[in-house]
Amino acid sequence: MAELLLPKNSKPKKGIIHYAPDNAKNVKAFRIYRWSPDDKENPRIDTFFIDLDKCGPMVLDALLKIKDEMDSTVTFRRSCREGICGSCSMNIDGKNTLACTKFIKDTKGAINISPLPHLPVVKDLVPDLKTPYKQLESIKPWLQTDKELNADRGDRERLQSPEERKKLDGLYECILCFSCSTSCPSYWWNGDKYLGPAILLQAYRFLADSRDTAKQQRLKDLDNPFKLYRCHTIMNCTSSCPKGLNPAQAIANIKKMQD
Ligand code: SF4
Ligand code: FES
Repeated sequence: MAELLLPKNSKPKKGIIHYAPDNAKNVKAFRIYRWSPDDKENPRIDTFFIDLDKCGPMVLDALLKIKDEMDSTVTFRRSCREGICGSCSMNIDGKNTLACTKFIKDTKGAINISPLPHLPVVKDLVPDLKTPYKQLESIKPWLQTDKELNADRGDRERLQSPEERKKLDGLYECILCFSCSTSCPSYWWNGDKYLGPAILLQAYRFLADSRDTAKQQRLKDLDNPFKLYRCHTIMNCTSSCPKGLNPAQAIANIKKMQD
């Protein structure tokens, strides 16, 4: 049976232990953060011993098995199971990532799973994303096209050259999982004012788009000591992005455009 590894300074209490069937040979422990608004004062870590011979290869497969077979109250978000929707982001063994693209075989010993850090928790592994989504809305994440500037095109589509289109590579792939923002210390301390890497990468995605005509206004809106300049190039964002994107570079590009 796998060893129980509790972090030394873990605030949550030891919770309920769910054992694998006696005949299971390939067992791994999944230690999952549990918190419910119905029992606010008592966060705990529940341990689930899973028979890996009867489980899919990803951490999300284990979570689904736990929910289906061991404790239906374990709560987490997921949808696509393909690394596309961004909903299953969580902290796995100290790193923010997607549960559906994280192989169980790439982890050692007991797996520790908790919600994305420094956001209010709705329940168990579900963070409250109201603030990041409000911040997303604030940067107007849609193409703005000035009719006068585009008068020659009328109602026809705005064309891009292959070079102009290429500038969006590494930006449009963002799935808004917020692994980056919630791994950023600046966002932890000033998340109400600093936009954070996920939103700033989105902001740059529209600044870099040749079809958008609101560049000057967008830059003006971002030119603020908190919204943009709380980035101190710590780079946690880039190292945590499960899609291999580089939000730190996008932020640096915005800063250069401000000069
Ligand atoms: S930049 Fe990467 S980590 Fe950040 S929200 Fe987008 S996909 Fe997620
Ligand atoms: S379930 Fe969609 S990204 Fe993981």
